[in-house]
Formats: sequence, structure tokens, C-alpha cells
Amino acid sequence: MELLATKNSAHGLKVLLAAKLTGNEINIISNAEADRRLRDAILKVTSKQGIVCEVSSNSATLYLYSISSKSSLCRDPEVAEWLEWEAATLQPVLLPYLQSVASGREDKTLQTHLAECLTFLSSYLEGKTYLCKQFGPADVVVFSSLITLLAQDKSKSFLTTGHSKVFSYLNNLMNIAEVKECIRSWYGANIVLTPWISGVSAPPSSAFDTASLMKSLPTSSVKAEEGSSKEAVTTPEEIEAARTSWTKGAPTIKQKKTTPVLPVPGERNILITSALPYVNNVPHLGNIIGSVLSADCFARFCRMEGCNTVYICGTDEYGTATETKALAEGLTPQEICNKYHAIHADIYKWFNIKFDYFGRTTTEEQTQITQDIFCKLEKNNKICRDSVDQLYCANCDRFLADRFVEGICPHPGCRYEDARGDQCDKCGKLINATDLREPRCKICNKKPEIKTSKHLFLDLPKIENKLKDWISKTSGSWSSNAGVICNTWIRDGLKPRCITRDLKWGTPVPLEGYKDKVFYVWFDAPIGYVSMTAKYTKDWERWWKNPDEVEYYEFMAKDNVPFHSVVFPSCQLGTEENWTMVKHLMATGNDNVYK
Ligand code: MF3
Ligand code: ZN
Repeated sequence: MELLATKNSAHGLKVLLAAKLTGNEINIISNAEADRRLRDAILKVTSKQGIVCEVSSNSATLYLYSISSKSSLCRDPEVAEWLEWEAATLQPVLLPYLQSVASGREDKTLQTHLAECLTFLSSYLEGKTYLCKQFGPADVVVFSSLITLLAQDKSKSFLTTGHSKVFSYLNNLMNIAEVKECIRSWYGANIVLTPWISGVSAPPSSAFDTASLMKSLPTSSVKAEEGSSKEAVTTPEEIEAARTSWTKGAPTIKQKKTTPVLPVPGERNILITSALPYVNNVPHLGNIIGSVLSADCFARFCRMEGCNTVYICGTDEYGTATETKALAEGLTPQEICNKYHAIHADIYKWFNIKFDYFGRTTTEEQTQITQDIFCKLEKNNKICRDSVDQLYCANCDRFLADRFVEGICPHPGCRYEDARGDQCDKCGKLINATDLREPRCKICNKKPEIKTSKHLFLDLPKIENKLKDWISKTSGSWSSNAGVICNTWIRDGLKPRCITRDLKWGTPVPLEGYKDKVFYVWFDAPIGYVSMTAKYTKDWERWWKNPDEVEYYEFMAKDNVPFHSVVFPSCQLGTEENWTMVKHLMATGNDNVYK
């Protein structure tokens, strides 16, 4: 393999080090030769004879590990996080900072940001020798980057104070034989390696050949030709880039690492949620793609852009999905939740999904916030009562929850044969289970009978006008399928919607006469977003009761749209409190059936 990299650059050092540590042979190509080959390669591409594959030095580092006997080191999800931190947080600060120093006008803002990075690193390194469990790719890239800092003049350097852990970390790595050797071959044999940091004291100013290190800045505007002392040639683009970073600061320097992240007035504050998965299955790629992956990408982007970003998800643990699973596995519902919550958390971790908090709905906070919202709705006269004819399976001796019945869709023009008790998958409309034609018990396939029971309803007609106002103001920024699904609902007029169930497993209803019932899982599930945020920070209301300063993005599969665009917003509006409501409702999935 051959390495074409600007001589002395931090990027080149990463790859060289990785090659050395993984036993891969690498030939370094001189600058002039690299230029010539690059020109050739570009010529080939423009004349359609070949492809130039340009990879980042972090990817190259990871690749070299992955093809070696140390490939297992790549599988630690923390490795990817560190590579990302190095590329997206550290580099964008470090490079412009060093350039500002080189130009004789040290940028104080950049210095502050760099100090933040180092403080973060210092505190992370407390009690550790390496960034991850073993010396590996994360250390290679962070070390190679930071080594460029040591070119600084001692008097200017702020490195000596407050970052002792970073010092001892670098020092420790410097003493590894392969590292020493690479540093020498990369920066030249005349470099003085030891003692360049003794304990936490400042590096002796003579320890490094500053001029040679300044040449090493990867995208440096002080590039000097190798072996000559000629004045550096600076291109107009470089001058423009320097001007921009001088006047505006580096573009991506503010990835927040302090927790909890809270909204800051006057800044962009982004709240992101993914639909909460039920605990009746092991998540598979479909679940990830359904709502978690797109939200994760978006959250990463927002963090890189320097927005205050909080990404919340967790397991939706109430409802019949759990009860069914408990029945099947011979465990209690709580045991099922504990088991599957852990499985879900693990799998998302494996996929390297970066939630700020991954919670669950079976918590004190959930009960408290759900009951509070309910009491406000009741106080505002948005709850009505009715007797409900419910499907009851005598054979199974239980009331059949919506998902336990199937039958023919009651909507004329659809009549889909396998409609569920709550919704028809073909026409997308909501269904009242008792309206199903020829209902069947999903457990035993027998025909259920109708029994009467008193229930509480969300009085949607009383909220409808407010809801429609809100939808017309906000749905312009929803994904188009979400708008279509929501309109299907609204168009036909809203009816009161039952929010209680004759079950044991759920959030208890805090109202006299209904205390033996629980809330319908879809009443409290979206409240999970709120209660999980409350688990994440006691200041959760700064996210959730702050519509002027927070932009809320929801990601979900399309069958979840009605509950997020109509039912949950109606609850929020009905409380007459100042809730943060969804601004961007993003639904994945193909929407053909709604056309
Ligand atoms: N658990 C539901 C499902 O898998 C989604 C709930 S989203 C929530 O379909 F936000 F309401 F929790
Ligand atoms: Zn039955």
C-alpha cells in the first residue's frame, strides 16, 4: 500500500501509525511524487479511465485495523464515537487555531473552544490510560492530532494548565516504541522526543522543531516546500477560508459534550424524538430504519451544527403488546419489560445510535405527568364519559383490546378483511373495535360478544377548531405522507376517543369510579417522550413548555402518524398549557396506499 499525504501532516501520521501498529506495509510517497500521481489520477478520471478514491485519514486508520489481527478493536462503538469527535469537534477547532497562531494573531475564541475540548478529554481520561479499553484506532487519531499542538511556543501555550491528564496520556503514548518510531520517521530524526513532557510541566521549548511542526498543519496556509526556505505560496481560496474563519469562527466547533443539554435563549434548540418501540420484539433493521436511524443522523447533524440538541427515545412498555408477550413467555408484564428494555438498549448501542437518553414508560415520572395531563383535560372539560360496548371473549375470559380483534373494515369502499380493532392497515382510517364486521378474537379465533363498561373519552370535537388552526400553521413542514394521513383523519370530522381500558397493565386512571382501569397505551405513549426527558433532566420543562425557543422534530413510521398529528397534539392543546408541539413530523414508509 502507498500513502500519499502531505509530508508532516497529522493525517499522514495517523495512517502511518495505524499501519505500523497493525503490521501493514506502507510506502510513503514524497510530496512531489504525490502531486504528480494525483494529477495523473485526476487526468485519468476526467478522461474516464479510472476512479480516484479519496478517503479520510480516520477511515483509512479504521480500515488498516479492520484488515489486521486487531480487527476486533474496531467493533467497540466507542471507537467510532472518538473518531467522530476527533474529526467533527477537535479538528475544526485545532486547525484554525494553529493557523491563527502561525499567522501571529492567536484567536482567543478558538483558544477557548480548544480548551473546552481538552478539558473534556482530561476529565474523560481520569483513571484511564487509553480512550477505549485497549490502545487502538481512537488513540491513534486523537494522538496524531494533538501532537501538532506541541509546536506551540511555551509562553503562548495554555496547554500546561488544567489539562494534566491529556499531558500524561500523550506522554504515555509517546513512550510506546512504534509510536516513537513513527514520530521520528514522520517529523524527522532531529526531533527531540524526551523529555518533552515531564509530569505536567510545560514542554521544554526546544523539545520540538517548531518550524517543522508548523509545516505539518494538514491544510496549512504556511505550507513550505520540503527542504527549502522559500516563502510559502498562498492561494486565494486559502486566504478566503482564513478570512472567513477569522471573522466568523470555525464552522463546526460547538458539539456539546456537557450534560444535560438544555435550551439556550437566542440559540437554535432542537428536540428530537423517535417513536417508542414496544417491548414485544427484538428490534431488527426495519425498526431501526423506521424511525431511529433518520432521527440519529439528523441529531448528529444538529450537534455538528452547534445546535443545542436533545434526542430522546425509549421503550413503550404498557399496552396489550406487552401483555400478550408476557402470556407467551410465562413472565409478568414487568419482567417482560425489564428483559426487552435491556435488549432494545443493547441493540441500539450496537448500531451506535446516539440517544441523549433512552428511557422507558414504566416510571414514576410517566405516571405523574400522564395523570397531571389527564387532570388538566378533565378540569378544562375536555373529557367526556360514556358506556362502551366492548368486545369480550367468553372463551378467553377477557375484554379484547383493540389489537386482539380483527375483522372486516367497516368503512364503505374499503372492507379490508384483516382490519385491526384500532385501525385499518389498508385505508388507514381509525376504527372502533365494535364496528368491525365479523370480528374474530385474535387469541382463539372465536367470535367475541359485546359487554358494557363505563369509560372516559378525550372530547376531540371540543378541541377540533384549535387543532385545525394548529395543523394549518404547522403541517407545511411535515413530510408529505404525514400531511396526507392527518388530513384523512381531520376531513371526516373528529369523534370523542376512548382513552381508558379495562386492563391492569398501564398507567392508573386517577378518577373516582374509574380507578380499576388504566389509560389506553396510545394516550400515555407519546407522554413517554416528556417523562423520559424528565428522567434525563429535572429541567425538562425548559424543553417541553418552551415553544418559542424549541424546535421539535418527531420521527416515526407512517402508521403512527394519526396519534402524533391528532391525538397527542389535542391533549397538549386541551391542557391549555404552553406546550412545545411538533413542528416537523417526519414519517418514513411508503405512502402508496394513501394516495
Ligand atoms: N409503540 C408504538 C409502536 O410501536 C409507537 C409509540 S410512539 C409513541 O407502534 F410516541 F407514542 F410512544
Ligand atoms: Zn378468544
